[in-house]
Amino acid sequence: MAPENMKCPTRTVKDACRGLGKRWGIKRLFLEPSTAYDSTVNTVGMGYNPQLYPLEVNPTTGEPFLRLRGHHNIIITPPRPEDVPAMVPYHNDPRICEYLGGPPFPYTLAHAQSFFDITRSLSDRLLSQLEDTKDQRGLVILENCPVRAIREVHEDGSDTFIGDIGFMRCPIGELMGTNAASLDWENKTIVEERNNKLPAGDPNIIWSIGDFLAPSHHGRGIMTEAVRTILHDWGVPRMGIRHVWVSTFTGNDGSVKVFMKNGFKLIYTCDEHKEAKGKMRGINVLEWKYGES
Ligand SMILES: CC(C)(COP(=O)(O)OP(=O)(O)OC[C@H]1O[C@@H](n2cnc3c(N)ncnc32)[C@H](O)[C@@H]1OP(=O)(O)O)[C@@H](O)C(=O)NCCC(=O)NCCS
Repeated sequence: MAPENMKCPTRTVKDACRGLGKRWGIKRLFLEPSTAYDSTVNTVGMGYNPQLYPLEVNPTTGEPFLRLRGHHNIIITPPRPEDVPAMVPYHNDPRICEYLGGPPFPYTLAHAQSFFDITRSLSDRLLSQLEDTKDQRGLVILENCPVRAIREVHEDGSDTFIGDIGFMRCPIGELMGTNAASLDWENKTIVEERNNKLPAGDPNIIWSIGDFLAPSHHGRGIMTEAVRTILHDWGVPRMGIRHVWVSTFTGNDGSVKVFMKNGFKLIYTCDEHKEAKGKMRGINVLEWKYGES
């Protein structure tokens, strides 16, 4: 049986759109076509801020969340303080840290705290923006996504932090200026800064996605669905994302598959890209463009 706060949604996306359209006095609320796929969103409840759409709100805690399309017991929420200690063993586990270039190793509580401080303050800021615009007509475009912590919801309604997924402006400027034909380290910073300066919602922004999942949950299709859900339910309609480049270390076949199963295409691969955590690493770059998959 589904736990109380995760009860099967009673409204479909279509119902919810009809409701929002009525509230805003418009006949038809535009939604990206793929949002209609297998998705139900529970936006029932007095005081639901329509700007949160398609986030649901936990009726007990008031916390907004995005439910995975194909795994209804997996949700994505804002970061919580209790994720800080949980993050440490994940980032020291070779099944995770071997494949991530960004987080330091060994990974300490201080590293986790500083990651939390940054991501939580971004989430708070975005949620405040949604609150401030709650009476505005039409969904506002945001600079990022207020949810990123992946949690498994148990029968009793409790949940466990099992991973993270987030959007960022593309950090591989050494390839961005050259259309992935060759590396240009000299102009890396200039190209990245140009991309970083584009205003929220600009279709020319090249985005990237970073993620990890608890090894206990690998191989169940969770990250494939997390990428699909966050990209199509939030990134495209709420951030205006139209172009994404992701990079994985060579040998990270699981991650390559996750993105390919979401319509990304391999556009570049190199066996010796740069050193990370004391080792020369190769990368694969995969691209996704709106309307091409
Ligand atoms: C990469 C990662 C996110 C994949 O998450 P996941 O939820 O286990 O992936 P999925 O279950 O959705 O798997 C997608 C496909 O990849 C395959 N796959 C998963 N892990 C794999 C592995 N280690 N080797 C080969 N294939 C793998 C799955 O079998 C599935 O293929 P299938 O549908 O043909 O069976 C997860 O392994 C992880 O967190 N790794 C460490 C951190 C990391 O690499 N992050 C990404 C950095 S770019």
